Amino acid sequence: MSLDHAAARLPDHPVDPQFPARWSPRSFSEATLTEGQVLTVLEAARWAPSASNNQPARFVWGLRGDAGFAAILGALVPSNRDWAQRAAALIAVASRDVTVAADGTVKPNRWAGFDSGAAWMSLALQAQAMGLVAHAMGGFDGPALSAAVALPADHSLHAVVAIGQQGPVENLPEALRAREAPNQRNPLTASAFRGRF
Ligand SMILES: Cc1cc2nc3c(=O)[nH]c(=O)nc-3n(C[C@H](O)[C@H](O)[C@H](O)COP(=O)(O)O)c2cc1C
Repeated sequence: MSLDHAAARLPDHPVDPQFPARWSPRSFSEATLTEGQVLTVLEAARWAPSASNNQPARFVWGLRGDAGFAAILGALVPSNRDWAQRAAALIAVASRDVTVAADGTVKPNRWAGFDSGAAWMSLALQAQAMGLVAHAMGGFDGPALSAAVALPADHSLHAVVAIGQQGPVENLPEALRAREAPNQRNPLTASAFRGRF
């Protein structure tokens, strides 16, 4: 991210610069990632908090050029596929939505989605700390992605995350170039309330 882009994202309150500095570019360079780099990103997700430490987040990933990447890519909506095909890695984020007690009782885990969201954020910030960018996508065909990753029963899919080194805006299809900049946020007063809504 260029400094002028970073400066354009002004927090309402003092905050560690990593938060406004993180954004979701669509342009990727040709650079590849190693398996070790992907595992480091996923390791950060592993340490995310979760209800009762159930750790429901699940990840299925592939590196550009391998069959897993192609399968996940093929399940994206075309408007995401257009740019995500250049990512170095694609990670499908899922959750296991039940817990199984020692006596075999199966119960729904109503925090599975919340916890998987926390894990995705850890992953994104780890990528940023490594000089990479991460871009989440909800635009995928559910049945196609389920088939692509062989989603087990009692699991749900939440997003696909594209990871890699940011590339020049010229690497994007023409239609996406004007949008390749960090966006803004509603004021904190729109989302945080002292005492009650
Ligand atoms: C769950 C989720 C789904 C998203 N789906 C898409 C998507 O399908 N395509 C896309 O280009 N961006 C997608 N985004 C990226 C958001 O548009 C982006 O995070 C948001 O505009 C905030 O911008 P920033 O991440 O650059 O700060 C998604 C992000 C999240 C967290």
